[in-house]
Amino acid sequence: MPRGAAGEPEVSKIQNLLARRVPGYSLDQAFYTDPDVYQHDLDNIFYRDWLFAIPTCELEKAGSYVTHTVGDYRIVIVRGADNQIRAFHNTCRHRGSVLCKAEKGHVPKLVCPYHQWTYELDGSLLWARDMGPDFDPSLHGLRTVHCRELVGIVYVCLADEAPDFETFADTARPYLEPHDLGNAKIAFESSIIEKGNWKLVWENNRECYHCGGNHPALCRTFPDDPAITGIEGGDTPPNMQAHFDRCERAGLPSQFYLHVDGQYRLARMPLKEGAESYTLDGKSAVRRWLGRAPFADAGSLLKFHYPTTWNHFLADHSIVFRVTPVSPTETEVVTKWLVHKDAVEGVDYDVKRLSEVWLATNDEDRRVVEDNQQGINSPAYVPGPLSAIQEAGVLQFADWYCNTLATRTAPVVAAAE
Ligand code: FES
Ligand SMILES: [Fe+2]
Repeated sequence: MPRGAAGEPEVSKIQNLLARRVPGYSLDQAFYTDPDVYQHDLDNIFYRDWLFAIPTCELEKAGSYVTHTVGDYRIVIVRGADNQIRAFHNTCRHRGSVLCKAEKGHVPKLVCPYHQWTYELDGSLLWARDMGPDFDPSLHGLRTVHCRELVGIVYVCLADEAPDFETFADTARPYLEPHDLGNAKIAFESSIIEKGNWKLVWENNRECYHCGGNHPALCRTFPDDPAITGIEGGDTPPNMQAHFDRCERAGLPSQFYLHVDGQYRLARMPLKEGAESYTLDGKSAVRRWLGRAPFADAGSLLKFHYPTTWNHFLADHSIVFRVTPVSPTETEVVTKWLVHKDAVEGVDYDVKRLSEVWLATNDEDRRVVEDNQQGINSPAYVPGPLSAIQEAGVLQFADWYCNTLATRTAPVVAAAE
């Protein structure tokens, strides 16, 4: 594969692939398998956009940290002595060793395991042995990663200059606030690797065409209705509008909202008649609720934000999902079940009851995504038609992805002299 002057994969290849795309069909094989396309995805999407990282509650107190890897980048997110959450490149400013190796932990200072350079929780270099009189510690603090906290969730951005965050934050804040994520704790978490390209994980998430045939537990409470996953600003069915109106009258922002460029959506969707939560019997999973829902059957606030997160915010608990590409054909999906910090395990909730529906659903989704990848790997694969009725969400994702990539990889036309 020829590469551009700067070592970047050639832009023309991606432009050609995008130009060949037939809207309304699944994408060409290369989008799901090709290492150059994968590198474009990292360079132009994951290294440029705001990425959901963790729920704020994961950093309980000063010195709590969580590490995260995105492509070639390793980052550490840490709560400082001033309570502020910051993100840094997890790379020592001495000779570059990884600083924090665990997935999460609690430390008074960040100490490099190699030669013990010691950093404050705000990233400044506090101590470095025998570096001589001319050494200036203030020039060797940890390199920062853009980091924002939004009502209980933490976003990071790896770009030198981060894109606007406030438009998203201002839109999402009223929807999220009633869920009180700042007072949450993680009741359970799971991390799986799906052997499929990250876009297959998303495409699968954005439709429920597959739900009836694959998700017996989820389908007890989640309506197998394309309007729930599929509507993208079209006419809202009357039953859904009635649900939005009922929730909004009770103080829960609920109305369907899709950002103009398609990157994120918020909508409080009804569950099946009488269902309250994602449990096998449909009743609440947690007695001590997280948030201020006025009634149990408020449905699920569905938030997706490409390229890294979809979420379910329910009356009794919340579930956050994080999608991270690992290779062209592998994707990490991390799921965290959040309950009120004062809810007591074994009294207010049972972990099995809380997590079993989505654990099963994740595993079922992993299987269909892996089967999808296996089939696409065949030379016989050709893009197939999407159902306009059932797969509008897949088309919406593909449009966002292709438009984003097309814009960001467009050749820059030199201005006339
Ligand atoms: S590489 Fe970190 S102290 Fe030497
Ligand atoms: Fe699914």
